[in-house]
Amino acid sequence: MTSSANRKLAVLILAAGKGTRLKSKHPKVLFEVGGKPMLAHVVAAARALAEPADIFAVIGHEAERVRAAMQSTGIGYVLQAEQHGTGHAIIVARETLAAYDEVIVLVGDAPLLQSSTLRTLYEFHQQQSAAMTILTADLANPFGYGRVFRTALDSAEVTAIVEQKDLASSEIAHRFAEQSGDNHEINSAMYVFRIAPLLAHLNSLSTANAQGEYYLTDMAKLLRAAGERVVAFKHSDVNELLGGNTRAELADLDRKMRARKCADLMRDGVTIQFPDTCVIDADVIIAPDTTIEPYVQLLGNTRIGSDCRIRSYSVIKNADIADNVLIRNGSIIEEARIGVGARIGPYSHLRPGSDIGPGAHIGNFVETKKTRVGKGSKANHLAYLGDTVIGEGVNIGAGTITCNYDGVHKHTTTIEDGAFIGSNNTLVAPLTIGPRAYTAAGSSITQDVPEDALALGRAKQETKPGWVKKRREKSAKP
Ligand code: UD1
Ligand code: CA
Repeated sequence: MTSSANRKLAVLILAAGKGTRLKSKHPKVLFEVGGKPMLAHVVAAARALAEPADIFAVIGHEAERVRAAMQSTGIGYVLQAEQHGTGHAIIVARETLAAYDEVIVLVGDAPLLQSSTLRTLYEFHQQQSAAMTILTADLANPFGYGRVFRTALDSAEVTAIVEQKDLASSEIAHRFAEQSGDNHEINSAMYVFRIAPLLAHLNSLSTANAQGEYYLTDMAKLLRAAGERVVAFKHSDVNELLGGNTRAELADLDRKMRARKCADLMRDGVTIQFPDTCVIDADVIIAPDTTIEPYVQLLGNTRIGSDCRIRSYSVIKNADIADNVLIRNGSIIEEARIGVGARIGPYSHLRPGSDIGPGAHIGNFVETKKTRVGKGSKANHLAYLGDTVIGEGVNIGAGTITCNYDGVHKHTTTIEDGAFIGSNNTLVAPLTIGPRAYTAAGSSITQDVPEDALALGRAKQETKPGWVKKRREKSAKP
Protein backbone atom coordinates (compact mmCIF):
# COMPACT_ATOMS: atom_id res chain seq x y z
CA MET A 1 0.00 0.00 0.00
CA THR A 2 2.91 2.35 -0.64
CA SER A 3 0.83 4.31 -3.13
CA SER A 4 -1.46 5.35 -0.28
CA ALA A 5 1.29 6.81 1.88
CA ASN A 6 0.63 10.36 0.77
CA ARG A 7 -3.15 10.13 0.84
CA LYS A 8 -5.07 11.08 3.91
CA LEU A 9 -7.59 8.46 4.84
CA ALA A 10 -10.44 8.84 7.33
CA VAL A 11 -12.81 6.16 8.60
CA LEU A 12 -16.40 7.21 9.30
CA ILE A 13 -18.58 4.75 11.21
CA LEU A 14 -22.32 5.36 11.01
CA ALA A 15 -23.69 4.75 14.49
CA ALA A 16 -26.42 7.33 15.10
CA GLY A 17 -29.47 5.19 14.42
CA LYS A 18 -31.99 4.20 17.06
CA GLY A 19 -32.25 0.55 16.17
CA THR A 20 -36.05 0.59 16.10
CA ARG A 21 -36.27 -3.10 15.27
CA LEU A 22 -34.53 -4.05 18.56
CA LYS A 23 -37.42 -2.51 20.55
CA SER A 24 -34.97 -1.29 23.17
CA LYS A 25 -34.20 1.81 25.20
CA HIS A 26 -30.47 1.18 24.61
CA PRO A 27 -28.58 2.35 21.53
CA LYS A 28 -28.19 -0.35 18.90
CA VAL A 29 -24.43 -0.06 18.40
CA LEU A 30 -23.80 -0.76 22.10
CA PHE A 31 -25.54 -4.12 21.94
CA GLU A 32 -22.89 -6.75 22.58
CA VAL A 33 -21.74 -9.47 20.27
CA GLY A 34 -18.93 -11.74 21.45
CA GLY A 35 -19.00 -9.91 24.81
CA LYS A 36 -18.21 -6.46 23.38
CA PRO A 37 -20.32 -3.63 21.88
CA MET A 38 -20.82 -4.00 18.12
CA LEU A 39 -19.29 -0.57 17.57
CA ALA A 40 -16.11 -1.58 19.47
CA HIS A 41 -15.59 -4.47 17.05
CA VAL A 42 -15.96 -2.14 14.07
CA VAL A 43 -13.47 0.33 15.57
CA ALA A 44 -11.01 -2.54 16.16
CA ALA A 45 -11.27 -3.56 12.49
CA ALA A 46 -10.81 0.07 11.36
CA ARG A 47 -7.65 0.42 13.45
CA ALA A 48 -5.83 -1.74 10.89
CA LEU A 49 -6.06 1.16 8.42
CA ALA A 50 -6.26 4.31 10.53
CA GLU A 51 -5.16 5.87 13.79
CA PRO A 52 -7.86 6.73 16.36
CA ALA A 53 -7.49 10.43 15.48
CA ASP A 54 -8.66 9.63 11.93
CA ILE A 55 -11.60 7.42 12.94
CA PHE A 56 -14.96 9.10 13.58
CA ALA A 57 -18.27 7.70 14.71
CA VAL A 58 -21.45 9.49 13.68
CA ILE A 59 -23.57 9.40 16.81
CA GLY A 60 -27.05 10.72 17.61
CA HIS A 61 -29.44 8.47 19.45
CA GLU A 62 -28.17 8.29 23.09
CA ALA A 63 -24.98 9.99 21.84
CA GLU A 64 -23.49 10.54 25.28
CA ARG A 65 -23.87 6.92 26.28
CA VAL A 66 -22.20 5.78 23.08
CA ARG A 67 -19.37 8.27 23.57
CA ALA A 68 -18.83 7.16 27.18
CA ALA A 69 -18.81 3.47 26.24
CA MET A 70 -16.24 4.06 23.49
CA GLN A 71 -14.01 6.48 25.38
CA SER A 72 -11.03 4.16 25.74
CA THR A 73 -10.72 3.83 21.95
CA GLY A 74 -9.76 7.51 21.53
CA ILE A 75 -11.81 7.98 18.33
CA GLY A 76 -13.55 11.22 17.34
CA TYR A 77 -17.27 11.92 16.94
CA VAL A 78 -19.68 13.71 14.64
CA LEU A 79 -23.06 14.52 16.10
CA GLN A 80 -26.14 13.77 13.99
CA ALA A 81 -28.78 15.09 16.37
CA GLU A 82 -31.69 14.01 14.18
CA GLN A 83 -31.27 10.98 11.98
CA HIS A 84 -32.55 11.47 8.46
CA GLY A 85 -30.75 8.53 6.89
CA THR A 86 -27.28 7.24 6.00
CA GLY A 87 -26.83 10.02 3.40
CA HIS A 88 -27.73 12.62 6.01
CA ALA A 89 -25.04 11.16 8.28
CA ILE A 90 -22.48 12.09 5.61
CA ILE A 91 -24.03 15.54 5.20
CA VAL A 92 -23.46 16.32 8.90
CA ALA A 93 -19.90 14.96 8.65
CA ARG A 94 -19.08 17.22 5.68
CA GLU A 95 -16.66 19.51 7.54
CA THR A 96 -14.82 16.66 9.21
CA LEU A 97 -14.41 14.88 5.90
CA ALA A 98 -13.20 17.99 4.06
CA ALA A 99 -9.80 17.61 5.78
CA TYR A 100 -9.20 14.23 4.12
CA ASP A 101 -8.68 12.84 0.62
CA GLU A 102 -10.49 9.54 1.08
CA VAL A 103 -12.94 7.97 3.49
CA ILE A 104 -13.93 4.44 4.36
CA VAL A 105 -17.55 4.44 5.49
CA LEU A 106 -18.56 1.62 7.83
CA VAL A 107 -21.68 0.84 9.83
CA GLY A 108 -21.65 0.40 13.59
CA ASP A 109 -23.95 -2.62 13.52
CA ALA A 110 -21.87 -5.04 11.41
CA PRO A 111 -19.36 -6.42 13.94
CA LEU A 112 -18.03 -9.47 12.10
CA LEU A 113 -16.08 -7.36 9.60
CA GLN A 114 -12.38 -8.34 9.56
CA SER A 115 -9.54 -5.88 9.18
CA SER A 116 -8.06 -8.02 6.39
CA THR A 117 -11.26 -7.49 4.39
CA LEU A 118 -10.98 -3.73 4.82
CA ARG A 119 -7.40 -3.80 3.58
CA THR A 120 -8.39 -5.80 0.51
CA LEU A 121 -11.32 -3.46 -0.15
CA TYR A 122 -9.08 -0.40 0.10
CA GLU A 123 -6.46 -1.93 -2.24
CA PHE A 124 -9.17 -2.78 -4.77
CA HIS A 125 -10.48 0.78 -4.60
CA GLN A 126 -7.06 2.15 -5.42
CA GLN A 127 -6.37 -0.33 -8.24
CA GLN A 128 -9.72 0.62 -9.75
CA SER A 129 -9.12 4.38 -9.39
CA ALA A 130 -12.74 4.60 -8.35
CA ALA A 131 -14.66 7.48 -6.82
CA MET A 132 -16.82 4.98 -4.90
CA THR A 133 -16.14 1.33 -4.12
CA ILE A 134 -18.93 -0.71 -2.55
CA LEU A 135 -18.26 -3.81 -0.42
CA THR A 136 -20.76 -6.49 -1.40
CA ALA A 137 -21.40 -10.23 -1.06
CA ASP A 138 -23.91 -12.75 -2.31
CA LEU A 139 -26.54 -13.69 0.24
CA ALA A 140 -28.91 -16.61 -0.38
CA ASN A 141 -31.82 -14.73 1.18
CA PRO A 142 -31.07 -11.05 0.52
CA PHE A 143 -34.39 -9.78 1.86
CA GLY A 144 -34.04 -6.51 3.74
CA TYR A 145 -30.72 -5.49 2.25
CA GLY A 146 -29.99 -3.01 -0.50
CA ARG A 147 -29.24 -4.76 -3.81
CA VAL A 148 -26.23 -3.81 -5.94
CA PHE A 149 -26.80 -3.70 -9.70
CA ARG A 150 -23.74 -3.92 -11.94
CA THR A 151 -23.55 -2.63 -15.51
CA ALA A 152 -23.11 -6.29 -16.51
CA LEU A 153 -22.84 -9.47 -14.47
CA ASP A 154 -19.07 -9.73 -15.01
CA SER A 155 -18.35 -6.00 -14.68
CA ALA A 156 -16.81 -4.25 -11.66
CA GLU A 157 -18.87 -1.16 -12.44
CA VAL A 158 -22.13 -0.42 -10.69
CA THR A 159 -25.24 1.28 -12.04
CA ALA A 160 -27.13 1.71 -8.78
CA ILE A 161 -27.97 0.37 -5.34
CA VAL A 162 -31.67 -0.20 -4.72
CA GLU A 163 -33.10 -0.53 -1.20
CA GLN A 164 -35.42 -3.41 -0.35
CA LYS A 165 -38.40 -1.08 0.07
CA ASP A 166 -37.75 0.54 -3.33
CA LEU A 167 -37.20 -2.68 -5.30
CA ALA A 168 -40.80 -2.97 -6.43
CA SER A 169 -40.77 0.48 -8.00
CA SER A 170 -37.25 0.20 -9.46
CA GLU A 171 -36.84 -0.01 -13.23
CA ILE A 172 -33.28 -1.28 -12.89
CA ALA A 173 -34.44 -4.11 -10.64
CA HIS A 174 -37.22 -5.07 -13.08
CA ARG A 175 -34.85 -5.12 -16.04
CA PHE A 176 -32.32 -7.20 -14.10
CA ALA A 177 -35.02 -9.68 -13.00
CA GLU A 178 -36.19 -10.16 -16.61
CA GLN A 179 -32.67 -10.87 -17.85
CA SER A 180 -31.02 -12.71 -14.94
CA GLY A 181 -33.61 -13.53 -12.25
CA ASP A 182 -33.12 -12.54 -8.62
CA ASN A 183 -30.19 -10.36 -7.60
CA HIS A 184 -28.49 -11.80 -4.52
CA GLU A 185 -25.65 -9.28 -4.36
CA ILE A 186 -26.19 -7.19 -1.25
CA ASN A 187 -24.87 -3.79 -0.22
CA SER A 188 -22.86 -3.99 3.01
CA ALA A 189 -23.25 -0.21 3.54
CA MET A 190 -19.45 -0.19 3.72
CA TYR A 191 -17.69 1.87 1.07
CA VAL A 192 -14.53 3.69 0.12
CA PHE A 193 -15.07 7.17 -1.34
CA ARG A 194 -12.79 9.79 -2.81
CA ILE A 195 -13.85 12.78 -0.76
CA ALA A 196 -13.91 15.46 -3.45
CA PRO A 197 -16.58 13.85 -5.68
CA LEU A 198 -18.53 12.64 -2.62
CA LEU A 199 -18.82 16.15 -1.16
CA ALA A 200 -19.39 17.71 -4.59
CA HIS A 201 -22.57 15.65 -5.09
CA LEU A 202 -23.93 15.49 -1.55
CA ASN A 203 -26.42 18.27 -2.28
CA SER A 204 -28.00 16.10 -4.97
CA LEU A 205 -29.20 13.49 -2.47
CA SER A 206 -32.95 13.61 -1.99
CA THR A 207 -35.58 12.03 0.22
CA ALA A 208 -37.75 10.92 -2.69
CA ASN A 209 -37.85 7.24 -1.72
CA ALA A 210 -39.97 4.73 0.18
CA GLN A 211 -38.51 5.72 3.58
CA GLY A 212 -38.31 9.50 3.01
CA GLU A 213 -34.64 9.47 4.04
CA TYR A 214 -31.39 10.63 2.52
CA TYR A 215 -29.88 7.37 1.29
CA LEU A 216 -26.10 7.17 1.01
CA THR A 217 -26.78 4.33 -1.43
CA ASP A 218 -28.06 6.90 -3.96
CA MET A 219 -24.49 8.16 -4.27
CA ALA A 220 -23.78 5.23 -6.62
CA LYS A 221 -26.10 6.39 -9.37
CA LEU A 222 -25.41 10.09 -8.74
CA LEU A 223 -21.65 9.66 -9.09
CA ARG A 224 -22.04 7.45 -12.14
CA ALA A 225 -24.31 10.02 -13.77
CA ALA A 226 -21.58 12.61 -13.15
CA GLY A 227 -19.10 10.43 -15.05
CA GLU A 228 -17.29 9.10 -11.98
CA ARG A 229 -16.21 5.47 -11.65
CA VAL A 230 -18.34 3.44 -9.21
CA VAL A 231 -17.32 -0.18 -8.59
CA ALA A 232 -18.20 -3.08 -6.34
CA PHE A 233 -15.88 -5.50 -4.57
CA LYS A 234 -17.55 -8.82 -3.81
CA HIS A 235 -16.31 -10.50 -0.65
CA SER A 236 -16.51 -14.29 -0.36
CA ASP A 237 -17.62 -14.39 3.29
CA VAL A 238 -21.04 -12.80 3.55
CA ASN A 239 -21.04 -13.26 7.33
CA GLU A 240 -18.70 -10.29 7.75
CA LEU A 241 -21.33 -8.02 6.21
CA LEU A 242 -24.30 -9.08 8.29
CA GLY A 243 -25.99 -6.50 10.50
CA GLY A 244 -27.50 -6.88 13.98
CA ASN A 245 -30.84 -5.16 13.40
CA THR A 246 -33.04 -7.53 15.42
CA ARG A 247 -32.58 -9.66 18.55
CA ALA A 248 -32.59 -12.76 16.36
CA GLU A 249 -29.86 -11.30 14.12
CA LEU A 250 -27.83 -10.38 17.21
CA ALA A 251 -28.04 -13.95 18.49
CA ASP A 252 -26.90 -15.19 15.09
CA LEU A 253 -23.94 -12.76 14.97
CA ASP A 254 -22.97 -13.70 18.53
CA ARG A 255 -22.98 -17.40 17.71
CA LYS A 256 -20.92 -16.80 14.57
CA MET A 257 -18.39 -14.63 16.36
CA ARG A 258 -17.92 -17.19 19.13
CA ALA A 259 -17.53 -20.00 16.60
CA ARG A 260 -14.84 -17.92 14.90
CA LYS A 261 -13.14 -17.29 18.26
CA CYS A 262 -13.07 -21.02 19.06
CA ALA A 263 -11.73 -21.77 15.59
CA ASP A 264 -8.94 -19.19 16.04
CA LEU A 265 -8.01 -20.61 19.46
CA MET A 266 -7.97 -24.20 18.19
CA ARG A 267 -5.84 -23.15 15.24
CA ASP A 268 -3.40 -21.64 17.77
CA GLY A 269 -3.11 -24.85 19.82
CA VAL A 270 -5.93 -24.72 22.38
CA THR A 271 -8.06 -27.86 22.82
CA ILE A 272 -11.76 -27.05 23.04
CA GLN A 273 -14.05 -29.99 23.59
CA PHE A 274 -17.49 -29.51 22.08
CA PRO A 275 -16.83 -25.85 21.10
CA ASP A 276 -20.48 -25.16 20.29
CA THR A 277 -21.20 -25.21 24.02
CA CYS A 278 -18.42 -22.81 25.06
CA VAL A 279 -18.94 -19.06 25.34
CA ILE A 280 -15.61 -17.31 24.79
CA ASP A 281 -15.45 -13.53 24.44
CA ALA A 282 -13.53 -11.92 21.60
CA ASP A 283 -10.67 -10.53 23.72
CA VAL A 284 -9.91 -13.68 25.74
CA ILE A 285 -6.32 -14.95 25.37
CA ILE A 286 -5.41 -18.62 25.88
CA ALA A 287 -1.96 -20.18 25.45
CA PRO A 288 -1.42 -23.47 23.59
CA ASP A 289 -1.94 -26.88 25.20
CA THR A 290 -4.69 -25.67 27.48
CA THR A 291 -7.91 -27.69 27.44
CA ILE A 292 -11.37 -26.14 27.70
CA GLU A 293 -14.08 -28.66 28.58
CA PRO A 294 -17.72 -28.38 27.42
CA TYR A 295 -20.00 -25.66 28.77
CA VAL A 296 -17.32 -23.24 29.93
CA GLN A 297 -17.69 -19.43 29.77
CA LEU A 298 -14.54 -17.33 29.43
CA LEU A 299 -15.41 -13.65 29.48
CA GLY A 300 -13.98 -10.14 29.24
CA ASN A 301 -10.20 -9.81 29.28
CA THR A 302 -9.52 -13.24 30.74
CA ARG A 303 -6.03 -14.58 30.05
CA ILE A 304 -5.14 -18.23 30.54
CA GLY A 305 -1.65 -19.72 30.34
CA SER A 306 -0.55 -23.02 28.83
CA ASP A 307 -1.23 -26.57 30.05
CA CYS A 308 -4.26 -25.50 32.05
CA ARG A 309 -7.51 -27.40 32.22
CA ILE A 310 -10.82 -25.60 32.66
CA ARG A 311 -13.47 -28.11 33.59
CA SER A 312 -17.12 -27.93 32.65
CA TYR A 313 -19.54 -25.30 33.94
CA SER A 314 -16.90 -22.86 35.12
CA VAL A 315 -17.52 -19.16 34.44
CA ILE A 316 -14.40 -17.01 34.38
CA LYS A 317 -14.42 -13.24 33.83
CA ASN A 318 -11.50 -10.78 33.65
CA ALA A 319 -9.18 -13.27 35.34
CA ASP A 320 -5.48 -13.82 34.90
CA ILE A 321 -4.56 -17.48 35.12
CA ALA A 322 -0.94 -18.69 34.92
CA ASP A 323 0.35 -21.97 33.44
CA ASN A 324 -0.55 -25.45 34.67
CA VAL A 325 -3.65 -24.40 36.58
CA LEU A 326 -6.58 -26.77 37.08
CA ILE A 327 -10.00 -25.19 37.45
CA ARG A 328 -12.38 -27.94 38.47
CA ASN A 329 -16.08 -28.04 37.64
CA GLY A 330 -18.49 -25.26 38.39
CA SER A 331 -16.08 -22.61 39.64
CA ILE A 332 -17.03 -18.92 39.39
CA ILE A 333 -14.02 -16.65 39.05
CA GLU A 334 -14.04 -12.88 38.53
CA GLU A 335 -11.21 -10.34 38.55
CA ALA A 336 -8.88 -12.81 40.17
CA ARG A 337 -5.27 -13.86 39.64
CA ILE A 338 -4.24 -17.47 39.89
CA GLY A 339 -0.58 -18.55 40.07
CA VAL A 340 1.27 -21.40 38.38
CA GLY A 341 0.08 -24.89 39.27
CA ALA A 342 -2.80 -23.80 41.51
CA ARG A 343 -5.86 -26.05 41.91
CA ILE A 344 -9.28 -24.42 42.13
CA GLY A 345 -12.68 -26.00 42.69
CA PRO A 346 -14.93 -27.81 42.27
CA TYR A 347 -17.46 -25.09 43.06
CA SER A 348 -15.07 -22.38 44.25
CA HIS A 349 -16.15 -18.75 44.10
CA LEU A 350 -13.21 -16.40 43.58
CA ARG A 351 -14.51 -12.85 43.75
CA PRO A 352 -12.73 -9.63 42.74
CA GLY A 353 -9.33 -9.09 44.32
CA SER A 354 -8.57 -12.77 44.89
CA ASP A 355 -4.89 -13.47 44.32
CA ILE A 356 -4.12 -17.16 44.57
CA GLY A 357 -0.41 -18.05 44.76
CA PRO A 358 1.52 -20.74 42.93
CA GLY A 359 0.53 -24.28 43.85
CA ALA A 360 -2.21 -23.13 46.20
CA HIS A 361 -5.44 -25.12 46.54
CA ILE A 362 -8.88 -23.56 46.83
CA GLY A 363 -11.49 -26.27 47.08
CA ASN A 364 -15.16 -27.18 47.38
CA PHE A 365 -17.49 -24.31 48.25
CA VAL A 366 -14.72 -21.92 49.23
CA GLU A 367 -15.41 -18.22 48.65
CA THR A 368 -12.61 -15.66 48.52
CA LYS A 369 -12.78 -11.87 48.14
CA LYS A 370 -9.90 -9.35 48.27
CA THR A 371 -7.76 -12.16 49.57
CA ARG A 372 -4.19 -13.12 48.87
CA VAL A 373 -3.29 -16.77 49.32
CA GLY A 374 0.46 -17.51 49.44
CA LYS A 375 2.40 -20.22 47.68
CA GLY A 376 1.26 -23.75 48.47
CA SER A 377 -1.42 -22.73 50.96
CA LYS A 378 -4.67 -24.69 51.10
CA ALA A 379 -8.30 -23.93 51.83
CA ASN A 380 -9.95 -27.06 50.59
CA HIS A 381 -13.48 -27.09 52.00
CA LEU A 382 -16.39 -24.80 52.85
CA ALA A 383 -14.73 -21.53 53.83
CA TYR A 384 -15.22 -17.77 53.48
CA LEU A 385 -12.00 -15.78 53.24
CA GLY A 386 -12.59 -12.03 52.82
CA ASP A 387 -10.06 -9.19 53.20
CA THR A 388 -7.48 -11.77 54.18
CA VAL A 389 -3.74 -12.01 53.67
CA ILE A 390 -2.52 -15.59 53.86
CA GLY A 391 1.17 -16.46 53.80
CA GLU A 392 2.89 -19.54 52.37
CA GLY A 393 2.23 -23.11 53.43
CA VAL A 394 -0.86 -22.22 55.45
CA ASN A 395 -3.66 -24.72 56.01
CA ILE A 396 -7.17 -23.36 56.44
CA GLY A 397 -9.45 -25.96 58.04
CA ALA A 398 -12.85 -26.87 56.65
CA GLY A 399 -15.61 -24.44 57.53
CA THR A 400 -13.36 -21.50 58.46
CA ILE A 401 -14.98 -18.07 58.28
CA THR A 402 -13.20 -14.73 58.40
CA CYS A 403 -15.53 -12.27 60.12
CA ASN A 404 -14.34 -9.24 58.16
CA TYR A 405 -17.36 -6.99 58.58
CA ASP A 406 -18.54 -5.39 61.81
CA GLY A 407 -21.62 -3.89 60.22
CA VAL A 408 -19.84 -0.63 59.42
CA HIS A 409 -16.25 -1.35 58.40
CA LYS A 410 -14.29 -4.12 56.75
CA HIS A 411 -11.24 -5.43 58.63
CA THR A 412 -8.23 -7.48 57.59
CA THR A 413 -7.25 -10.94 58.77
CA THR A 414 -3.56 -11.82 58.42
CA ILE A 415 -2.47 -15.43 58.61
CA GLU A 416 1.28 -15.83 58.45
CA ASP A 417 3.51 -18.52 56.90
CA GLY A 418 3.00 -22.09 58.07
CA ALA A 419 0.01 -21.34 60.31
CA PHE A 420 -2.65 -24.04 60.76
CA ILE A 421 -6.24 -22.98 61.21
CA GLY A 422 -8.36 -25.78 62.68
CA SER A 423 -11.71 -26.73 61.23
CA ASN A 424 -14.74 -24.56 61.76
CA ASN A 425 -12.94 -21.51 63.09
CA THR A 426 -14.42 -18.04 63.17
CA LEU A 427 -11.61 -15.53 62.83
CA VAL A 428 -12.86 -12.15 64.03
CA ALA A 429 -10.96 -9.36 62.24
CA PRO A 430 -8.86 -7.31 62.70
CA LEU A 431 -6.68 -10.25 63.56
CA THR A 432 -3.19 -11.63 63.00
CA ILE A 433 -2.26 -15.28 63.37
CA GLY A 434 1.53 -15.49 63.66
CA PRO A 435 3.88 -17.80 61.78
CA ARG A 436 3.46 -21.53 62.47
CA ALA A 437 0.74 -20.86 65.07
CA TYR A 438 -2.16 -23.32 65.49
CA THR A 439 -5.76 -22.63 66.28
CA ALA A 440 -7.87 -25.44 67.69
CA ALA A 441 -10.85 -26.82 65.78
CA GLY A 442 -14.12 -25.06 66.55
CA SER A 443 -12.45 -21.92 67.89
CA SER A 444 -13.69 -18.37 67.82
CA ILE A 445 -10.45 -16.42 67.59
CA THR A 446 -10.80 -12.77 68.61
CA GLN A 447 -7.24 -11.92 69.71
CA ASP A 448 -3.94 -12.05 67.86
CA VAL A 449 -2.06 -15.34 68.14
CA PRO A 450 1.74 -15.08 68.39
CA GLU A 451 4.15 -17.27 66.42
CA ASP A 452 4.38 -20.94 67.32
CA ALA A 453 1.47 -20.63 69.82
CA LEU A 454 -1.67 -22.75 70.06
CA ALA A 455 -4.90 -20.81 70.57
CA LEU A 456 -8.08 -22.48 71.82
CA GLY A 457 -11.18 -20.36 71.67
CA ARG A 458 -13.95 -22.78 72.62
CA ALA A 459 -15.76 -23.97 75.74
CA LYS A 460 -14.05 -26.86 77.47
CA GLN A 461 -15.87 -30.11 76.91
CA GLU A 462 -17.81 -31.54 79.86
CA THR A 463 -18.76 -35.24 79.78
CA LYS A 464 -21.39 -36.72 82.11
CA PRO A 465 -21.04 -40.52 82.21
CA GLY A 466 -24.32 -42.46 82.16
CA TRP A 467 -26.47 -39.31 81.90
CA VAL A 468 -28.46 -40.55 78.92
CA LYS A 469 -29.13 -43.96 80.38
CA LYS A 470 -30.46 -42.41 83.61
CA ARG A 471 -32.80 -40.12 81.73
CA ARG A 472 -34.09 -43.01 79.64
CA GLU A 473 -34.88 -45.10 82.70
CA LYS A 474 -36.57 -42.14 84.40
CA SER A 475 -38.89 -41.41 81.47
CA ALA A 476 -39.74 -45.12 81.10
CA LYS A 477 -41.34 -45.20 84.61
CA PRO A 478 -45.17 -45.36 84.61
C1 UD1 B 1 -28.34 0.00 5.09
C2 UD1 B 1 -28.25 0.29 3.59
C3 UD1 B 1 -28.54 -1.00 2.83
C4 UD1 B 1 -27.59 -2.08 3.28
C5 UD1 B 1 -27.62 -2.26 4.79
C6 UD1 B 1 -26.52 -3.18 5.22
C7 UD1 B 1 -28.95 2.61 3.22
C8 UD1 B 1 -30.04 3.51 2.77
N1 UD1 B 1 -29.21 1.31 3.21
O1 UD1 B 1 -29.68 -0.35 5.38
O2 UD1 B 1 -28.38 -0.79 1.44
O3 UD1 B 1 -27.90 -3.30 2.62
O4 UD1 B 1 -27.42 -1.01 5.46
O5 UD1 B 1 -26.56 -3.42 6.60
O6 UD1 B 1 -27.87 3.10 3.52
N2 UD1 B 1 -27.38 5.50 10.66
C9 UD1 B 1 -26.95 6.75 11.04
N3 UD1 B 1 -27.74 7.82 10.78
C10 UD1 B 1 -28.93 7.72 10.16
C11 UD1 B 1 -29.37 6.42 9.75
C12 UD1 B 1 -28.56 5.34 10.00
O7 UD1 B 1 -25.88 6.90 11.61
O8 UD1 B 1 -29.57 8.75 9.95
C13 UD1 B 1 -26.52 4.34 10.96
C14 UD1 B 1 -27.20 3.31 11.83
O9 UD1 B 1 -26.93 3.55 13.19
C15 UD1 B 1 -26.55 2.02 11.37
C16 UD1 B 1 -26.18 2.31 9.92
O10 UD1 B 1 -26.23 3.70 9.75
O11 UD1 B 1 -25.38 1.71 12.09
C17 UD1 B 1 -27.12 1.65 8.92
O12 UD1 B 1 -28.42 2.09 9.18
P1 UD1 B 1 -29.65 1.10 9.16
O13 UD1 B 1 -30.86 1.86 9.47
O14 UD1 B 1 -29.34 -0.11 9.93
O15 UD1 B 1 -29.67 0.76 7.58
P2 UD1 B 1 -30.28 -0.51 6.90
O16 UD1 B 1 -31.74 -0.35 6.79
O17 UD1 B 1 -29.76 -1.72 7.53
CA1 CA C 1 -28.40 -2.17 9.40
